[in-house]
Amino acid sequence: MAVSLASKPAPASTAEGEAMKFEIHPTDHPTSDKDRAAKLADPGFGRVFTDHMAIVRYTQGKGWHDARVESRANFPLDPALAVLHYAQEIFEGLKAYKRDDGGVNLFRPDANARRFQSSADRMAMAQLPESVFIDAVEQVVRIDRAWIPGGEGSLYLRPFMIASEVFLGVKPSAEYIFAVIASPVGSYFKGGPAPVSIWVSEHYTRAAVGGTGAVKCGGNYAASLRAQAEAIEHGCDQVVFLDAVERRYVEELGGMNVFFVFDDGSLLTPPLGTILPGITRDSIIQLARDAGKQVREEVYSIEQWRADAASGKLKEAFACGTAAVISPIGKVRSASGDFVINGGAAGPVAMGLRKQLVDIQYGRTNDPHNWIRKVL
Ligand code: PLP
Ligand code: COI
Repeated sequence: MAVSLASKPAPASTAEGEAMKFEIHPTDHPTSDKDRAAKLADPGFGRVFTDHMAIVRYTQGKGWHDARVESRANFPLDPALAVLHYAQEIFEGLKAYKRDDGGVNLFRPDANARRFQSSADRMAMAQLPESVFIDAVEQVVRIDRAWIPGGEGSLYLRPFMIASEVFLGVKPSAEYIFAVIASPVGSYFKGGPAPVSIWVSEHYTRAAVGGTGAVKCGGNYAASLRAQAEAIEHGCDQVVFLDAVERRYVEELGGMNVFFVFDDGSLLTPPLGTILPGITRDSIIQLARDAGKQVREEVYSIEQWRADAASGKLKEAFACGTAAVISPIGKVRSASGDFVINGGAAGPVAMGLRKQLVDIQYGRTNDPHNWIRKVL
């Protein structure tokens, strides 16, 4: 079954700040309980999808309209659809967590909504009101709540927006589709929170000042794949990028931010600018500062990383993001040689912060910063 990309007649339209009502059309071919249970047994990451999606359309003049929750279905793609040619596309990633009482939490969805707006601004796309973003996410969580795995699993939500005007001129599209799909997930890395290995990309860079590094557009990930493939070829889980000017300063991984932990108990993470302002990164900074730790947002070079790992000044390094949660970095490989951190083992700071964060997300502990939004 396919969803028409053409705008359907709908009474609801919205400008920034206005409420918008979603029409709910439950699927007429829901997955059986048995098939769903089989899919939820070991979902991995990003391969299993739920029965529904939320979709909202935008056209210049009319604004956002035709908000629907409906059966997950293909988009018919006109070969001249703008996104297929000039890659005007942005996305977000957040998770719904099942609490022990059976209810469901979202973690800082307002922060994802705001980052989506900043991504839209950078990519010259239509601004989606924060309320519509959050409502769309919540609608999908509610209708597909049976798909939220128990235990340490979660429902990964993927809001995204594509340029949907049928036109080959190079200009911002006059039409957009915003949609939210959902995927029950386990760990992003096969080994769960076991330490990961990182390949240093000395040849390819991810982002330059004035570019799109600070926003979540698909193009950033397309441009990272060659370096990520190099990481895999070298037996590593992820690639780490260096700055595009001096080719020295650690920026971030292909899909995660990075932290360093020193022997004096302090933490360091690269400053914002050309990296994605991760919501996990921001949460970790707050949790570490709450615990009285010093956190510096400062540049850190690859040579310093290597020297500090060798001298023992660096105790731990870890990657963080919605998909990865907090993953210790055990080994760093590069064309200039390899080194290990903390003997290649997970360290107590990374694992302690991971537990603290995950406990908040699953509602097992108090939430001092009001990060949790209960959906159910
Ligand atoms: N950096 C990149 C390039 C990412 O893709 C992600 C994942 O979203 C992150 C960092 C971490 O961001 P967040 O913590 O908001 O998921
Ligand atoms: C996320 O963590 O949400 C991302 O988008 C990163 C990607 C590696 C899945």
